[in-house]
Amino acid sequence: MMDIEKRIEELLSQMTLEEKIGQLTQRIFKGAEIEQMKEFARKGQAGSYLLGSTAFGSDVYQERPLIGLMDELQEAALESRLGIPLIYGRDVIHGHRTVFPIPLALASSFNPDMIKKSYRMTAEEASDDGIHWTFAPMLDVSRDPRWGRCIEGPGEDPYLGSIVAKSIVTGFQGDNEEEYKQRQHLAACAKHYIGYGASEGGRDYHRAEISDYSLRNYYLPAFKAAVDSGVATVMSSFNEVSGEAVTASEYLLKDLLKTELGFDGFVVTDWGAVWQLILQGRATDRKDAARLALNGGSDMDMEDNCYWDYLAELALEGKVPIENIDEAVRRILRIKLRFGIWEKALSERIDYDSELHYDQSKKMAEECMVLLKNEDNILPLKKDAKIALIGPMVNARRSLLGSWTLDCEPDKVSTIKEAILSQYPEVTVYTTNEESYDNMISMIYECDTVVLALGESYLMTGEGKSLAYIDVPKEQEELVKKAYALGKPMIATMTFGRPIGMQSIEPYLKGIIYTWHSGSMTAPALADILFGKVNPSGKLAMTLPRVTGQIPLYYNPPRASRRCNGYYGDPNPINYQDVSGRPMYPFGYGLSYTTFEYSNLTVENKEISLDKINNGDKFAISVEVTNTGDVDGMETVQLYIHDKIASMTRPIRELKGFKKVMIKKGESARVTFNLGYSELGFYGRDSKYNVELGEFDIYVGGNCYADLGDIIIVK
Ligand code: BGC
Repeated sequence: MMDIEKRIEELLSQMTLEEKIGQLTQRIFKGAEIEQMKEFARKGQAGSYLLGSTAFGSDVYQERPLIGLMDELQEAALESRLGIPLIYGRDVIHGHRTVFPIPLALASSFNPDMIKKSYRMTAEEASDDGIHWTFAPMLDVSRDPRWGRCIEGPGEDPYLGSIVAKSIVTGFQGDNEEEYKQRQHLAACAKHYIGYGASEGGRDYHRAEISDYSLRNYYLPAFKAAVDSGVATVMSSFNEVSGEAVTASEYLLKDLLKTELGFDGFVVTDWGAVWQLILQGRATDRKDAARLALNGGSDMDMEDNCYWDYLAELALEGKVPIENIDEAVRRILRIKLRFGIWEKALSERIDYDSELHYDQSKKMAEECMVLLKNEDNILPLKKDAKIALIGPMVNARRSLLGSWTLDCEPDKVSTIKEAILSQYPEVTVYTTNEESYDNMISMIYECDTVVLALGESYLMTGEGKSLAYIDVPKEQEELVKKAYALGKPMIATMTFGRPIGMQSIEPYLKGIIYTWHSGSMTAPALADILFGKVNPSGKLAMTLPRVTGQIPLYYNPPRASRRCNGYYGDPNPINYQDVSGRPMYPFGYGLSYTTFEYSNLTVENKEISLDKINNGDKFAISVEVTNTGDVDGMETVQLYIHDKIASMTRPIRELKGFKKVMIKKGESARVTFNLGYSELGFYGRDSKYNVELGEFDIYVGGNCYADLGDIIIVK
């Protein structure tokens, strides 16, 4: 540790102003401009190269990282006066060659160990391509499925978001400084700090109106968890929060992130975000933007070269204190040293087992998919079933991978049809490549169950891909109704990237599996769930509304003054005259092919003094969960609290613990949770975190409607 700080100061003392600004500059890697790039590198005029040619990395052709050229460029950097290597960054979001489920789906697995393992593998694959640094995890808690980028985040809950943050950061980076340095690990980037997920109306890049209270209690925790897990970098977000353009916000970047949370890595701006301060009405021109961003606490300038063009001038004019530049350089060098970029500057092949990674991707997909409905136990289907397989996703391949998959291998993806036919040869599948009504009728005549493969293209999700309507698309609604008229029982597989309002089709379906865009192995995982080889265990990380007009709809608002206008968990909240106040399916919800019964909730020490809580004492709460069905299964046991009377209004339910356990049929497991200082407090009016005196309701169960409860008291 000390060695790193000493080395930073040694380097800093030898650097010219130009070399310092070089470190703060991230340029775009363009194979065609290699000679020019080498020139920059040789003169120490670049700190990083971004391997990607557009901000819409998810769906526009991207140049593959070309290791040969990357090494040539790196050699030029190593030949520079001080030999400081470039750090290569790329958007490695949910897999690299092997694609894992979209992060919103990953969160729905409620399985932190599996998530971590998946990101370990992702880091190996990306390191094999010479990448040092990824722009992930995206930790924007969001309550708005209209926002196309909700697919990239952990869903709507700050606690789940924090657990996911830790898994992904340690998955990418390793668990300690020794591991950070190893070649197969990547430096991570918690993004987009902060409030991007709250953009009004789900409009991308739009303003977010967030009080300090909500910012700290809902939007900050996942970033805090990332910082506490040692995340190397943080990306400032494009948006503004209550008048603060984040990229230039001293309060958000310096006071809150760096000072209060103790973040000692570097902040990189988002693509072009420095010059965009002009568009946001904060800066008069690019020079002014560079001044505001650097002084605000943005350390590295992604892509737009405002720092490169103007920081020297600004420093000479005294408008940017040299101490601010030095501080930014320190942070960048610290991460380069901490992550051993000198040692892993040039690429080296990593011998990883691709088959193992695909296998993990399948297991991950299985754990993410959510069984929402299973009337009359229509699922799993029999292995000699006759199914009519209909709908827009039957032959989809690329879309199963989801957005933000720059290096994916679409050729290795099987379609839902292919997976069923190859894994279940005894099943009769009536299907056709030709979507016609006549075809559909004749197929349905023959079959005993209709499987509707519904979904959306990955091009409807991701950056800049918001939707005004998130109800099931009209043509799919019609398809469901026409098929229903023919009288056969129907199930739907919902391959969407975001929560979709399915009120219009839900009554027609006996079974529903929400598959998400679950990566390379979406179809094989789904086939095994459909036919019962795998028992589904996913739980929703984001509320599924009934219709668009209910948004935002989330499980953890404060209690309202009048019950009928309140929490979506009330038996019959009358928020609207034209639609129920309840969601279609609530947060934390998901069925299994077996059933679980909760009993014997016990609380050790129902009362603990505040003093003791502040000193680390905890309430121990445990519950017995019994698998009462006919098959083994996994259940995510969830613990919610409600701070009954407090100095600020508190959420009616807050997730504060979960454990995913495998329970064999007929057996029981006792699951224990501990609640203490970190779980019971909140940031109050004075922006300070405190636990308050009083009673807390606690609830344990299999989703946010959990009703087995008790009371604990902090006295
Ligand atoms: C996105 C970031 C991404 C960056 C680099 C931006 O448009 O908002 O999430 O990391 O581009 O590709």
